[in-house]
Amino acid sequence: MPELRALGRTARPASGSNLLDALLAMEVAVPWSCRAGNCQACLVCCEAGEPADEQPDALPASLREQGWRLACQCRVVDDLQVRPFDPAHDATPARVIALRWLAGEVLVLRLAPERPIRYRAGQHVQLWLAGVARPYSFASVAHTDPWLEFHIACRHGGAFARAARALRLGDAIGLGQVSGGALHYDPSWSGRPLWLLAAGTGLAPLWAVLREAVAAGHQGPIHVMHVAREPYWQPEWQTLQAQWPALSVECLEALPTGLRADRRTMALACGSPQRVEAFSRALFMAGVPRSQILVERFLTRETGSAAE
Ligand SMILES: Cc1cc2nc3c(=O)[nH]c(=O)nc-3n(C[C@H](O)[C@H](O)[C@H](O)COP(=O)(O)OP(=O)(O)OC[C@H]3O[C@@H](n4cnc5c(N)ncnc54)[C@H](O)[C@@H]3O)c2cc1C
Ligand code: FES
Repeated sequence: MPELRALGRTARPASGSNLLDALLAMEVAVPWSCRAGNCQACLVCCEAGEPADEQPDALPASLREQGWRLACQCRVVDDLQVRPFDPAHDATPARVIALRWLAGEVLVLRLAPERPIRYRAGQHVQLWLAGVARPYSFASVAHTDPWLEFHIACRHGGAFARAARALRLGDAIGLGQVSGGALHYDPSWSGRPLWLLAAGTGLAPLWAVLREAVAAGHQGPIHVMHVAREPYWQPEWQTLQAQWPALSVECLEALPTGLRADRRTMALACGSPQRVEAFSRALFMAGVPRSQILVERFLTRETGSAAE
């Protein structure tokens, strides 16, 4: 059995054990969220030895070269020494510069990072708060917004949501790894219809993509469908539509049936796994080829149980 060492603790898990499970069994506090290689909450740095990595492409080469691995995607096959991502040393410090509570208990959070963060619309970052790390998508646009903005769904009352409710101006938050990129805007889509389908705070990355499309001078029509129990972004839609009348926005409780789309449509969908699955089916039935449907699923600890 291989020897696994972390933070001064040692264990001998069965060869082939999942690294995240083995570390949690040793009571080494490694945050995790999706267990699917998607959220990147479970980063650990290999100080000696090498685990078997089931999904090596999930991390950028630069991080892998520094020894970072996703514990949920690795198996312990040889002796190994790791250290979990430590927000005190590894995260970029940021301060809360604005907090806005909107309908449906959505918190719009603005942060000023201590150092510039490189990201693009459609990506997400781990937010570290009170020892809890969760992935949140950027709602801000890097080249126009001097802050980082996030839409945080708080009505489910999870660990991060509880900590977020206690936030005040000036409080500190750690920024972990920026990752993802399934959702993005490509200027080569300029003349095509662009559909953006969001469930709840799945709007955050699509709002960033939309603003990037508008800034790039997108020529085709853009249609947004925001499915939410309580729509929370009305004033922003009105402001953007006043500047850009080609934008049409529908705030809905459910996706309408019988949608029809131009076959050249590019469609981006984001929200809980169940909603994204339903959106993808509806888009395909509407005539959008699968290769033109890009999605981001907001996986939670209980993948598949999340709502909006
Ligand atoms: C790539 C990525 C990007 C994300 N971006 C965003 C974003 O921009 N905005 C955002 O609000 N969320 C986003 N999420 C989802 C967010 O990270 C999770 O909802 C997070 O787990 C909530 O953390 P928590 O600590 O509050 O709840 P947890 O303590 O992790 O969960 C506690 C309980 O609440 C349930 N729960 C938590 N969140 C939800 C939910 N949304 N719907 C239904 N049940 C829930 C869980 O299933 C669990 O039972 C993203 C997720 C991923 C993977
Ligand atoms: S990537 Fe490992 S828990 Fe999400």
